[in-house]
Amino acid sequence: MPADRTEKLVNLAKRRGFVFPSSEIYGGFRSTWDYGPLGVLLKRNVMEAWWRALVQERDDIVGIDAAILMAPRVWEASGHLATFTDPLVDCRNCKERWRADQIDAGAGPDGPARCPKCGSKDLTDSRPFHLMFKTHVGPVEDEASIAYLRPETAQGIFVNFANVLQASRKKPPFGIAQQGKSFRNEITPGNFIFRTREFEQMEMEFFVPPDQGQRWFEYWCEERLKWYVDLGIPKDQLRLRAHDAEELSHYSAGTADVEFEYPWGWGELEGIANRTDYDLTKHAEHSGEKLEYFDQATGERYVPHVIEPAAGVGRSMMAFLLAAYDEDEVGGEARTVLRLNPRLAPYKVAVLPLSKKDALTPTARQVAAALRPHFSTDYDETQSIGRRYRRQDEAGTPFCVTVDFESLDDQAVTIRDRDSLAQDRVPIDNLVTEIAARLTA
Ligand code: GAP
Repeated sequence: MPADRTEKLVNLAKRRGFVFPSSEIYGGFRSTWDYGPLGVLLKRNVMEAWWRALVQERDDIVGIDAAILMAPRVWEASGHLATFTDPLVDCRNCKERWRADQIDAGAGPDGPARCPKCGSKDLTDSRPFHLMFKTHVGPVEDEASIAYLRPETAQGIFVNFANVLQASRKKPPFGIAQQGKSFRNEITPGNFIFRTREFEQMEMEFFVPPDQGQRWFEYWCEERLKWYVDLGIPKDQLRLRAHDAEELSHYSAGTADVEFEYPWGWGELEGIANRTDYDLTKHAEHSGEKLEYFDQATGERYVPHVIEPAAGVGRSMMAFLLAAYDEDEVGGEARTVLRLNPRLAPYKVAVLPLSKKDALTPTARQVAAALRPHFSTDYDETQSIGRRYRRQDEAGTPFCVTVDFESLDDQAVTIRDRDSLAQDRVPIDNLVTEIAARLTA
């Protein structure tokens, strides 16, 4: 993928209202980002596609929505308080801070590592830097009131295991899915929305009998890879990469990352981990509650093992946008087009009266009103029709519906296809059915 693709995407994202720098009127704030009118639609569509595939279309996964603030003992039990750190190195010369793995690459035959920014070799030894954000709950700021913003949504699932088991009457193999914000005080956030300190996760913990862990791990690796392909990322821009032993998280017996080929190289989209019985066992030890499954039919009692596909919303959005970004020519003019899968496109259809003439407006508005209950619909009557097509192409809108003067006589409109540029005349009465059919074709 061309190296300048990220820059082009960041520009388009700002210009068209996908992503804005957060607190921009105050100069921005430390790699935080806000989602604009198109971005929030895309984000919801990505999350909705995940929920549909993992929860709605299956009978073995249920959802929850747990609190971001949890009892601090959760993080003691999960191992995060003790081990959720990154190795931090300071450059004494330019004062920049790095994750140790970022500067190791600079170590060459001519001696120790250099600061990637100023080239100085005057670096501190690496020391562990804790990634969890601390806060205080209640009016008194003392040791007893310390709480943490969750660094992963997963623990909200583990601590609710017994509740969900009892309420849903599921039996392993079954899963609990959750989407929501997580927070990590990353040393070096960056690459747009790829690595941020506040981000959204889509995680699912799949509880299985202990002897079925490997089988389900392989199953979920395949399923998750397929999800990205089905939503439009070309297969050759995706790969599965197994973690080396020293790379594994403290809870994992095996992890594979779904990676996407970002403009700067391969990067993690999602991790699929075999967490064994680590979390349930730790929470049972620390809470004193039994977290196990008892099979009444067989009399078997066991702590389920867990396979966890854990995806990031921002990273997925960025991959979908990068894969969809294209530049071509229409009628001798350059255009930028987002060839987003229609399921992800912020607007499915845009209604464009051919010209901003009073005569066309009522019919065009009626057409838009008829479409809105069925599809996310934009309406635009400013500027030339050519420029309005370009704007919809940049937004990734799969279909534009043009209302012209003939429409007033024949009660028909033209559907223009974003990718093929084909234009077809369709009766207004058939428009909803026609667009629905094209969206699922
Ligand atoms: N529960 C396991 C877990 O949290 P992870 O690999 O640390 O595993 C899962 O995170 C996914 O969350 C990552 O693959 C990535 O998509 C997303 N993610 C993690 N840290 C992130 C960050 N700082 N910014 C954006 N996304 C992040």
